[in-house]
Amino acid sequence: MYNSVLGPKQDILLSLLGKYHPKTYIEVGCFQCVTLRLVTDLAPVYGIERCIGFDLFEQCAGDETELGVGDEHAPLDGPPLSFEEAIGLGLEVYKGDSKETLTTLGDLACQPPVFAFVDGGHSFETCYSDIKNVKACHHDAILLLDDSDYPGVAKAIAECGFPSRRFPYYLTVIE
Ligand SMILES: C[S@@+](CC[C@H](N)C(=O)[O-])C[C@H]1O[C@@H](n2cnc3c(N)ncnc32)[C@H](O)[C@@H]1O
Repeated sequence: MYNSVLGPKQDILLSLLGKYHPKTYIEVGCFQCVTLRLVTDLAPVYGIERCIGFDLFEQCAGDETELGVGDEHAPLDGPPLSFEEAIGLGLEVYKGDSKETLTTLGDLACQPPVFAFVDGGHSFETCYSDIKNVKACHHDAILLLDDSDYPGVAKAIAECGFPSRRFPYYLTVIE
């Protein structure tokens, strides 16, 4: 069922989960919940106790998407899953702008180590806020940033000043 969407992103994500053994997995920007469902299903294998997703669950502004005009988006193409559908699948998800919803992360009592896949809004403001909000609650959290070659995401990573390691293409880990 996941074969059509598994790619280098998920391969690297799973290898990092195997390396860091998080107890909590957070996905900021879970869209159709493909990756969140994958990790939730595999959680027992990786010793992950809780998987949490955050998304607008509605159309986002153009500067928040990784798509430029004329870009193709084959693997994740399609409408976002509705919030109700995600809940119906048994996923722990929170709806709203992550600039606000992530400020309540501290209330969720997440067990460390925390691993956060930050793949939400791609503007500088949103990405910077997502990194800061996760690190504010869990300063030891490992963050995997998608599309780190996009200007807003690249700038957010640089401005945060945390030690980071870039993969050959578009992924960056903040440790
Ligand atoms: C590239 S998709 C995420 C793909 C997903 N991580 C996966 O691997 O299947 C980006 C998602 O970020 C969400 N998003 C954009 N801006 C957001 C914001 N300010 N707050 C919450 N979610 C946001 C969009 O709704 C979209 O679903």
